[in-house]
Amino acid sequence: MSHKKGHWELIELTSRGDDRGELVAIQGSVEIPFDIKRVYYLTKTLEGVVRGHHAHKDLDQVLISVSGSCVIHLDDGHSKQEFILSRHTQGLRISNLVWREMHRFSPDCVLLVLANKRYDPSDYIRDYQEFKTLTSGFHKNV
Ligand code: TYD
Repeated sequence: MSHKKGHWELIELTSRGDDRGELVAIQGSVEIPFDIKRVYYLTKTLEGVVRGHHAHKDLDQVLISVSGSCVIHLDDGHSKQEFILSRHTQGLRISNLVWREMHRFSPDCVLLVLANKRYDPSDYIRDYQEFKTLTSGFHKNV
């Protein structure tokens, strides 16, 4: 399993706005660094709900809050970082072995997710202790 330091990053997308409104285009391996195999979105998330609570063994994703806002908590087993996604031109790329929790969804939040693989339940790590064990050998002295 390939894994390296720096497995999340913010990506700025270009909005092609004119007097009619805005348009943001995303092409696989152009605006984001992988080919897109799957698209899903989270919407109508109820107040107080925390989603995620998992990591992936081998999956690249980009999260974009195309409407509203939410907070993404990331953890690579050694360091943690929180991002407020509140701009439809900002993508958060998350690679392998990053524990994620999504919370504080605004009522109007539409969180778009682009992924480089089809849905595979066996790719999920849903146990935090298992995640900590898996990541304990990574990142040191990198
Ligand atoms: P779940 O993994 O619980 O979402 P989250 O981690 O964001 O809390 O997914 C909710 C349901 O949707 C679950 O039945 C699995 C299904 N699902 C798919 O069918 N395809 C997908 O691409 C995803 C992400 C989930």
